[in-house]
Amino acid sequence: MTSAGGDDWLTTRLRAAGCVFAEEEAAILRRWADGEAQLGQWARQRAAGEPLEHVVGHVDFAGLELAVGPGAFVPRQRSRLLARVAVDLLGARPAPVFVEAFCGVAPIASYVAARCRSAQVAATDADPVAVGFASRNLISGAVYRGAGLSGLPAELRREIDVIAAVPPYVPAQALELLPHEATDHEPRSALIGGGDDGLGHASDLLREATEWLAPGGAVAIEMNARQAPAANETARAVGLRPRVVSGEDGQTVVVVAAAPRR
Ligand SMILES: C[S@@+](CC[C@H](N)C(=O)[O-])C[C@H]1O[C@@H](n2cnc3c(N)ncnc32)[C@H](O)[C@@H]1O
Repeated sequence: MTSAGGDDWLTTRLRAAGCVFAEEEAAILRRWADGEAQLGQWARQRAAGEPLEHVVGHVDFAGLELAVGPGAFVPRQRSRLLARVAVDLLGARPAPVFVEAFCGVAPIASYVAARCRSAQVAATDADPVAVGFASRNLISGAVYRGAGLSGLPAELRREIDVIAAVPPYVPAQALELLPHEATDHEPRSALIGGGDDGLGHASDLLREATEWLAPGGAVAIEMNARQAPAANETARAVGLRPRVVSGEDGQTVVVVAAAPRR
């Protein structure tokens, strides 16, 4: 049914609830709903502020349809930069080893697995909900559970060519600046980065990576551009050679820290 303004009931409902992209969201809800009853229920959930991706159970990430749901971090479109950097770093290495750390539902690992068929791909996260979704999404690869890199099998020590990560990197004092969709529906442990600068997890990963990277391997970490100078300093302090790849949004960067070749 269409309203006087030309909108159908779903678009009107979503717009009234404050959804900026109401038409696009209505199309996505219709695409995934199994009948009118479910569509009505989903409209209520979305209007109440649940993330669209949690409601429909899917997110499109760089053309991949990934499972996601309540209790899990929804991959952000800005992380396509990290996905591309990871594939570039793997380059033409024969049978490379790739790990997504802090993987959530494993968007980067899934992207790498789809594009680098010869790569051995693994993903790891501390949260059992994230590990469950990652296991569904990463069809050709292994998923492990543990803090940082601690859940990885010992035989990967000094064997990994590329580690990529979107660790939590929001400083605790900046949490109130995030949209309610994130703070009300995604785990705090997926958002808050630790330390005054939000770089606690990223710094730990840089240190830990030195034990897991193969000679000449690299760890690539997404963060805010303002955090890059401090991350570069930490990388140098642990013996890695950092450089920064900037995203088009002017805020997102990937710090790539390379291990010595020998
Ligand atoms: C910002 S989310 C990123 C998830 C995914 N990489 C993405 O881009 O969608 C951070 C993830 O780190 C995980 N995490 C938080 N603390 C962790 C820790 N100490 N060790 C391992 N994973 C952790 C959370 O469970 C969450 O899934």
